[in-house]
Amino acid sequence: MADFISSFWDLYVAGLTTFGLLLCIVLMVANMTKQKPGASPQMQGHVWDETLREYNNPLPRWWLILFVGTVVFSIVYLVIYPGFGNRLSTTPENDAGLRKEYADEVKKANEEVGKKFAAYKGTPLLALAGNKEAMETGQRLFLTYCAQCHASSGKGSKGYPNLTDNDWLYGGDPDTIKTSITEGRAGVMTPFAGTLSAEQIEDAANYVLTLSGLDADNASAARGKDVFAANCTVCHGADGKGALSMGAAFGALGAPDLTDGVWLYGNSLEAIKDGITKGRNSGPGSFENRMPAWKEFLGEDKIHILAAYVYSLNKDRK
Ligand code: HEC
Ligand code: HEC
Repeated sequence: MADFISSFWDLYVAGLTTFGLLLCIVLMVANMTKQKPGASPQMQGHVWDETLREYNNPLPRWWLILFVGTVVFSIVYLVIYPGFGNRLSTTPENDAGLRKEYADEVKKANEEVGKKFAAYKGTPLLALAGNKEAMETGQRLFLTYCAQCHASSGKGSKGYPNLTDNDWLYGGDPDTIKTSITEGRAGVMTPFAGTLSAEQIEDAANYVLTLSGLDADNASAARGKDVFAANCTVCHGADGKGALSMGAAFGALGAPDLTDGVWLYGNSLEAIKDGITKGRNSGPGSFENRMPAWKEFLGEDKIHILAAYVYSLNKDRK
């Protein structure tokens, strides 16, 4: 139980169990009926069907022993299990032994299942994306590890990119996809609350709206063009077409194309202003959306299949 994230739950469960056991004993003792030898038997007091009465006899001894026996058994069981937490029951050596046993079993299972994944490691990603059986495996992996953020279809949701639309933050060639999965991604947009006034932020946001032909306050957008040129083009490119449009070397910035009508956080003026004000992934207060690095957890072989799977999700490749 030391594996609980906080020791509170450990104590909570142990406390609740102890309370339950004590309650059993208290109930037992409180309802005990004593009978003096020779005295006439006590009655319960109720009468049913005119004459039917009930004796208040002590519980049979064998039953009582069994009851106390189960309570004692559960205490011993809990200590050994270790239901009271391993500080009571397991020695550090024993604990280490259990952990090793578990690690060995995981290793053995991984070796067996791993063969299935390793079978594809020599296949180039492009060829693998066309391999039906491998892509079925890829889909299962995707549903297990990626769907909670990118949705089971891979189409993503607010803040989580759509992986099926040929629109990429970091690049859609098989190797870049593989790097995204292996190393993780966290595109940082710096907050502008300190450097730009509220009006400048509003202007920049209106200008962003015009980049993809959306309705905007035109006077404000015209002023915003300069704000954008001075503050935003380093990452989003001079024409707002995103970091990738400036060449593969800039791809790692992850700044999206603002002209293509594809939105990570939505195309309302408010959402855009919010992003400019607080930034993205830039620390407390900003919207923290990160792509975890999977290299330790999944390993090279599974990532290889997943990269091909994500690539295969994009049907109408430009
Ligand atoms: C905890 C949520 C989360 C999980 C789980 C997750 N991702 Fe991501 N992923 C993200 C976020 C957020 C981004 C965008 C990062 C950014 O904007 O900088 C991203 C980006 C990506 C990209 C880059 C997309 C682009 O446009 O360049 C790929 C590829 C990707 N994820 C694949 C996967 C795969 C495959 C898995 C499963 C192994 C996975 N992701 C699991 C959150 C997640
Ligand atoms: C340091 C690089 C950087 C700078 C400077 C920067 N951005 Fe960004 N911007 C990003 C990144 C990276 C993202 C994507 C964040 C994510 O993936 O979570 C982003 C996202 C956005 C989005 C959301 C797009 C969507 O699809 O929802 C908008 C809008 C935006 N930026 C506008 C601006 C404006 C306007 C400026 C200038 C005032 C600016 N950015 C300056 C890096 C930058």
